[in-house]
Amino acid sequence: MNPKFKNPRAKHNFIGRTCSITGIGSYVPQKVLTNHDLEKMVDTSDEWIRSRTGIRERHIAAKDEWTSDMGARAAQRAMKMAGVTADQIDLIIVATITPDMPFPATACLIQKQLGARRAAAFDLEAACSGFIYALEIAQQFIMSRTYDTVLVIGAEKLSSITDWTDRNTCVLFGDGAGAAILQNRDRAHGLLTVAMGADGEKSDLLFMPGGGSRRPATRESVDGRLHFLRMEGKETFKNAVQAMLSAADEVLRRCEIDIGKIKCIIPHQANQRIIEAVGQRLGARPEQLFINLDKYGNTSAASVAIALDEAVASGRISKGDLVLLIVFGAGLTWGAAVVEW
Ligand SMILES: CC(C)(COP(=O)(O)OP(=O)(O)OC[C@H]1O[C@@H](n2cnc3c(N)ncnc32)[C@H](O)[C@@H]1OP(=O)(O)O)[C@@H](O)C(=O)NCCC(=O)NCCS
Repeated sequence: MNPKFKNPRAKHNFIGRTCSITGIGSYVPQKVLTNHDLEKMVDTSDEWIRSRTGIRERHIAAKDEWTSDMGARAAQRAMKMAGVTADQIDLIIVATITPDMPFPATACLIQKQLGARRAAAFDLEAACSGFIYALEIAQQFIMSRTYDTVLVIGAEKLSSITDWTDRNTCVLFGDGAGAAILQNRDRAHGLLTVAMGADGEKSDLLFMPGGGSRRPATRESVDGRLHFLRMEGKETFKNAVQAMLSAADEVLRRCEIDIGKIKCIIPHQANQRIIEAVGQRLGARPEQLFINLDKYGNTSAASVAIALDEAVASGRISKGDLVLLIVFGAGLTWGAAVVEW
C-alpha cells in the first residue's frame, strides 16, 4: 500500500493493475498573436486583456494546419517519451471541440498520420474538460484489461470558431495540442483517481449555435455568425470557480490527502483570476499553482495537457510528486484528477 495515503483509491491494491502516464508531449503552432496585435483588430488593449485574464499572447495555427496535425505532433512527442511505437497503441481518444470536420473522427485522421493501424479510434467532446474525461476513459479500458496502451490527445484549433470581430471572446483563446500515453505499469506514475461532472442546465453559457443538426450551415447561419463560439463571461466565471473547487475537493477527499501534499496544481488555463480564486479557496500556496496561460490563452481540451507537459519539462514535477489536475468547460462540464508522477 502506498504509504502516502491512508485510504488510497489506487486500484492496483485490489485489481493488480495501475494506470500510469508513461509519456507526455505537446505542440503549439509557430505563429504568435500578441495582445498588441489584437489592439489593431478590435477595440481592446493589452492592459485590459492582461489585467482581466492574465493572457499576453496566444499561438494561432496556419490556414493549412489542422487539429489532427497538431494532435499528431503532440502524440509523437508523448510516444517518444514513453518509448512506444505506433503499432503498440491499442486505442486513440481525441478530446476536441474543433475536429478537422464533423466526421470522420479526428482520432481516425491522427491514427492515419501516426500509422497506428492496430488502434481503435474515437473523438470525445467535453469541451475544455475533455482531456480529464479522456484520461478517465483510458484508465477504465486499462483497468478492465481491455487495452494496455492508450493514446489520449487534447487538440484544438479554436481560431477556426473564434469571432475575430467580438472583443468579448476573441482575446481569450488559442490553438495547440497535448498528448499522453497511458499504460498498465507499476505503481509509479499512477493515475490515482479521477472525478467528472456535468450540468446541461447551463449549456447556454458557452456554446456554438450553428453547424449541428439544430442549425445546419446555411447562408443565413453564416450571415448570423452562428458558426462562432458565444459566451456569457461573468456567469461562466462564477460557475468555473465553484465547479473546479468541488471537483478538486472530491478527488482530494477520495485520496485522503491535504492540499499541502500536492506538489503542483495544474488548473484549466482560462483566466488567471479563476485560477487564483480556486487556489486561494483550496488553501493552496501560490507556488503550487502552475500557470502558463500568459503564453497560450485558453486552448480548451489541450490546456491542461500542454501545462502538464511544460511542468514536467521545466522540472516543476519530478518522479513521485503528487499532481492535481482541475478542469472546467462548456456543457457545463468539469473534472479533477490526482496523479502520482
Ligand atoms: C471574459 C472575461 C475576461 C470578462 O471579464 P469581466 O471582468 O467579467 O468583464 P465584463 O464582462 O464585466 O466586461 C466589462 C467591460 O469590458 C468590456 N470588454 C469585454 N471584452 C473586452 C476587451 N477584450 N477589451 C476591452 N474591453 C472589453 C465589456 O464590453 C464590458 O464593457 P461595458 O461595461 O461597457 O459593457 C471574464 O468574464 C472571464 O474570464 N470569464 C470566464 C471565461 C472563461 O473562462 N471561459 C472559458 C471557460 S472554459
